Amino acid sequence: MINQVEPNISNEDIESVSQYMQSGSWITEHKLTKELEDKVAAYVNRTHAVAVPNGTIAIYLALVASGIKKGHKVAVPNITMIATINAIIWAGAEPVIVDIDNSLCMSVESLKKISHIDAAIFVPLNGRVGSGLEIEQYCKDRDIILIEDSAHALGSSYLKQKCGSLGNVSIFSFTPHKIITMGQGGMVLLDDDDVYQNLIDIKTFNREKDKSDVHKGFGLNFKITDLQSSLGLSQFSKIEKFINLKKEIYSHYSNFISTRFLKTFYEYETPWFIDLFCESEKQREELYLYLKQKNIETRFSYPSLSSQSYLQKTDKTDLAFSEDISNNILWLPSSTGLSQEDIEYVSEGVNNFFGN
Ligand SMILES: Cc1ncc(COP(=O)(O)O)c(C=O)c1O
Repeated sequence: MINQVEPNISNEDIESVSQYMQSGSWITEHKLTKELEDKVAAYVNRTHAVAVPNGTIAIYLALVASGIKKGHKVAVPNITMIATINAIIWAGAEPVIVDIDNSLCMSVESLKKISHIDAAIFVPLNGRVGSGLEIEQYCKDRDIILIEDSAHALGSSYLKQKCGSLGNVSIFSFTPHKIITMGQGGMVLLDDDDVYQNLIDIKTFNREKDKSDVHKGFGLNFKITDLQSSLGLSQFSKIEKFINLKKEIYSHYSNFISTRFLKTFYEYETPWFIDLFCESEKQREELYLYLKQKNIETRFSYPSLSSQSYLQKTDKTDLAFSEDISNNILWLPSSTGLSQEDIEYVSEGVNNFFGN
């Protein structure tokens, strides 16, 4: 079976975790996590980085630490993983669903149609950066807080500026199918010192000072462990290799599959998953089953948020474009461990299906 995605764990990763376990450390958050935070912050050119247990918590903390709460409205694109909107709901705010454009990211035109919002979450979906820079300027001009949900996009960039540095606060996720992994894990990246302090307070029980059991106010525990960071550091040391592998995979696929079906990437974007456009939901289902018979696993891309039953009463703009295409996109095998033969075999299956 060729899986749609697999983590890429090397002997170096295993050695790094093993060395940590043998070091006698306390298996809690400490020096290695700080080292990872500093390295990722420097990589994306942010002042602060805060590691947290996962990307969902990272978005939640980004919103809450920025002051978003009940009564506030937050724009979210109609095609994203469910965590993006659920973090808004968890923070007590009201999501407003906006349409996407051809890049599959939030449409600036659709965003402009909302009369009032307090924050927006831009998602460089699948590593594509779309109108991110234009949306950043639009939000800046109107004092709208911009959160960048870069769960898919570590290593991608908006021309010169890296994903992880757009707007007020950015986040990454490090689950096994992301660009790098530490099992579960997330990170918040930001520049503002006050928002950073809010975040640390909420993350670490809001202690008056380190190790004190006197608390300045309400706080929780969103710490991770150095055990995870030992893997995270080893994975992050291979970031350039992973980026190049993802780009090569896309380049190999594009040698075989027509751009009529294959959605293109710019060279400054890091393809996370290879996405294929079918003509209809029915054709996508047929292709999925056809490839499955050939031991090729694929995955349907996210259904639109507006199609989820529990979000029917959520505020929205006109969502015609995203609703039209969301059920036509199929993700092909995209692991960094794929061989050229695997890619040729998958491409042959796709081309046979389409009669090319
Ligand atoms: C766009 C996006 N945002 C947020 C998340 C949530 O990240 P996590 O699974 O680490 O909670 C995901 C997870 O896949 C995602 O794809």
